Amino acid sequence: MELSVFQERKAKVYASALEDKGELSSSVPVFYNPKMFRNRDITLCVINAYHSLTKKPLLFLEPLAASGIRGIRVALECKGILRVVVSDKRKTAYSAMVKNIELNKVGDNVLALNMDANLLMSYFSAIGFKFDFIDIDPFGSPIYYVESALRALKVGGVLAVTATDLGPLCGVNLKKCRERYGILSCKTEYKYELGLRTLITVIIQAGLRSKYFLEPILSYYERHYYRVFFLSKKLKRSMHVNSLFMHVIHCPNCQERYLSDLTQFSITKCFNCGNNKLRIIGPLWTGRLSSRDLLDAIMRVSSNSQYLEDKKTFKLLKLLIEENNFPPFYFDIHFHCSRLKISPPKTLEVLRELNNLGYRSSRTHFSETAIKTNANLSTLQNVLVRLS
Ligand SMILES: C[S@@+](CC[C@H](N)C(=O)[O-])C[C@H]1O[C@@H](n2cnc3c(N)ncnc32)[C@H](O)[C@@H]1O
Repeated sequence: MELSVFQERKAKVYASALEDKGELSSSVPVFYNPKMFRNRDITLCVINAYHSLTKKPLLFLEPLAASGIRGIRVALECKGILRVVVSDKRKTAYSAMVKNIELNKVGDNVLALNMDANLLMSYFSAIGFKFDFIDIDPFGSPIYYVESALRALKVGGVLAVTATDLGPLCGVNLKKCRERYGILSCKTEYKYELGLRTLITVIIQAGLRSKYFLEPILSYYERHYYRVFFLSKKLKRSMHVNSLFMHVIHCPNCQERYLSDLTQFSITKCFNCGNNKLRIIGPLWTGRLSSRDLLDAIMRVSSNSQYLEDKKTFKLLKLLIEENNFPPFYFDIHFHCSRLKISPPKTLEVLRELNNLGYRSSRTHFSETAIKTNANLSTLQNVLVRLS
């Protein structure tokens, strides 16, 4: 097995060499994607912030670990780590992890295992051993691992998931979305937020079945993947979680969207364009995507770190703070200008104009050309026409 050495922040790992043009296939013996460094950086920011808030020593588990880079970085770069367990069902990945633990001299607190992820997490739960932080980073959908992860996670712990199956999640592959997630979806201009909320919905629902409320404390979309961190809480009636799930009544003609209670649909015709062939999406999580306390703690704890020196990471976190209090979903200025056959004004001009009219509005990390606002589509369209 031919392996190359890669350096990422403080860690060095052996993993399969990249193919031509830096491409990477999921079938390589030891998977390592250098482009996912931001995903790992942000994970370390979350762990450091979480530790600063809880002051607890942490047990970290990564059951689909490939080269082990993530767990090794956690051991090398995070504060308050008691023990890290990394595991992968592939023998080749396990052998590389063992080598990488030695290479980075973290053998005292990183343990490598060679097991199926669901078996491993169920085994830990069966022997009563629970983790503070479980990171599920698979190829495709994390949904197949969530229920066993919940068994091995402490109450008050964090479950992190990555999802790369954007087609089904975003409403582009509707059949797969129904089959895999049981959610009604459709093609929309706000597809990236729809996909993120679909993922959050199915994971919260899995938690509710086990009497946990998994509160999303940091969620984002980047290029080809979603990442969500959930804080696990014991479910209490006073949480009124159901009221945060709604259906979306979507107008495929003008893309206006209306949030509707799960039990009744009062809208039969689009108020913006009069179309009466509306689509139903959902049910969907309509609550916050991130926790302001966690985002503030990340900015405080990681302020002088290499992680926030990366301009894209810093901008992403800033935007998550800016857009956190806005209702779903974003509007894409370029999309609506193209429909209106007008040239698009600058995003900042649109925000200023909406604010002048008394609406709240913000940029969004989902797209450079999109905004979040509490104004409706008709108001936005008038602003776009005026500014174009
Ligand atoms: C996307 S890679 C993980 C990358 C890694 N988390 C990182 O940050 O570099 C997914 C890994 O999951 C492993 N895998 C797939 N199915 C698994 C299963 N059922 N149990 C354990 N590992 C599995 C694959 O062998 C592969 O190494």
